[in-house]
Amino acid sequence: MTALLKVEDLKVAYGKIEAVKGISFEVNEGEIVCLVGTNGAGKTTTLRTLSGLIKPKSGSITFDGQPLAAVPAHKIVSLGLAHSPEGRHIFPRLTIAENLQLGAFLRTDKEGIEADVQRAYEMFPILGERRKQAAGTLSGGEQQMLAMGRALMSRPKLLMLDEPSMGLSPLMMQKIMATIKELKSTGMTILLVEQNAQAALSLSDSAHVMEIGKIVLSGTGRDLLHNEDVRKAYLGED
Ligand SMILES: Nc1ncnc2c1ncn2[C@@H]1O[C@H](COP(=O)(O)OP(=O)(O)O)[C@@H](O)[C@H]1O
Ligand SMILES: [Mg+2]
Repeated sequence: MTALLKVEDLKVAYGKIEAVKGISFEVNEGEIVCLVGTNGAGKTTTLRTLSGLIKPKSGSITFDGQPLAAVPAHKIVSLGLAHSPEGRHIFPRLTIAENLQLGAFLRTDKEGIEADVQRAYEMFPILGERRKQAAGTLSGGEQQMLAMGRALMSRPKLLMLDEPSMGLSPLMMQKIMATIKELKSTGMTILLVEQNAQAALSLSDSAHVMEIGKIVLSGTGRDLLHNEDVRKAYLGED
C-alpha cells in the first residue's frame, strides 16, 4: 500500500517551545488514522502544520507523492488536503449555503460545486432544511456537520478532522462518528484527532497516542482500545 500522507520526524515550535518533538506516521488511502492524547499533546499543532498554517522547524511531510515543505496553505487545499479545524470556525452571520460555498473557494466548476452542495444536504439533511439561515443559529453538533460539509467542498483526498465531537451531547457525538464511518465507506481517507478516545479508536484503522509532543504508542485502533495503559490514561479506568 502506498501512503497518501507520510510524516517523518516532524518538529514544530512556537518560539522556544517545541510543541511537536519529532513525530512520524503514515496515512494510507482509504484508512481512518487517529491521533489521540490529552490537552496540549500537540495534535492541533500537527494538523495546522500539515495544512501549511504553521511552518515546521524540521522534518518532512509528503502528500500524494509531493513534499509539502515549500507549498503555501491555499495550494495545499488544492492538492487535496482539507482541514475541519478545532472549534469549527464557521462564519456565524453567513448562511449555511454560503458557508458551504466558501469551502469551494478554489473551484470554478459551478455545476460541480452545486452538485456537491446538494450532496452535503443529503449527508446532513438539517443543513438543507436550514440552508438560508445564519450558521450561528445552528446547534454545536449541527455546526460540526457544517464544518465537515464545508471541508468536503474542496473534494479532498484526505480529510483532517480536529476534535469533531468536542462539546457535543453523547447522541450528537454518535451521529458525528457514524458520519465519519459513512465517509470512510465512500472511500474517503481521514486523519482524525480526538480526545474522546473510545469512540475514535473503535472506528480507526490505526492510531497513535501523543503525549507532550511525542508519539508514545501506535497500533491498530482495536489494539489501543484494548491496551491497558490506554484504558487507564484515556478511558477513565483504573
Ligand atoms: N499559538 C500558540 N503559541 C504558543 N504555544 C502554543 C500555541 N498553540 C499551542 N501552543 C502550545 O503547544 C502545545 C500543543 O498544543 P496543541 O497542539 O493545541 O495540543 P492539542 O491539540 O493536543 O491539545 C501546548 O503546550 C500549547 O500550549
Ligand atoms: Mg487541539
